[in-house]
Amino acid sequence: MEVRDRFLADHREIETLLGRVLDAFEADDRQQVAEVWTEFDSRLNAHMDAEERFLIPVLQRRNERAARAILEEHRHFRARLTQLCTEVDLHTVRLHEARGLIDELRAHSAHEDRMLYSTVGSELGPSERSSLFDALTRLGRSHRGSRAAALTGIQG
Ligand SMILES: [Fe+2]
Ligand SMILES: [Fe+2]
Repeated sequence: MEVRDRFLADHREIETLLGRVLDAFEADDRQQVAEVWTEFDSRLNAHMDAEERFLIPVLQRRNERAARAILEEHRHFRARLTQLCTEVDLHTVRLHEARGLIDELRAHSAHEDRMLYSTVGSELGPSERSSLFDALTRLGRSHRGSRAAALTGIQG
């Protein structure tokens, strides 16, 4: 599978997870909100980590400005995740703001499709590509672990 196809599919899945968080929130299903949020949060973090580790360094050498713009958007998403995570825990999510995150993710997706996947993605060899794909799932698990540890810390 091509890097572009794999990453654009991951974007769609991440967006679907966020949609499910918001639906659960609207239905006031707190258990479901917490569960799907954890999955959304860890998948998005794993995705950005994989890009920063394997793709953005290659882009940096070709087009430093484009690389900086993508990193800036990642910083923005991490800040939004931290903020929303607190709101999810406190059940004070403002739905219209959280829905805005879906639009931001879509804009980022279009941006990366243009600047990152089509150009840099096709430069990776088979073994780099397989490490990249592995990172999408491996890092996801470690994030889930650290999130669980953080929750345990709060509860303890
Ligand atoms: Fe990204
Ligand atoms: Fe991406």
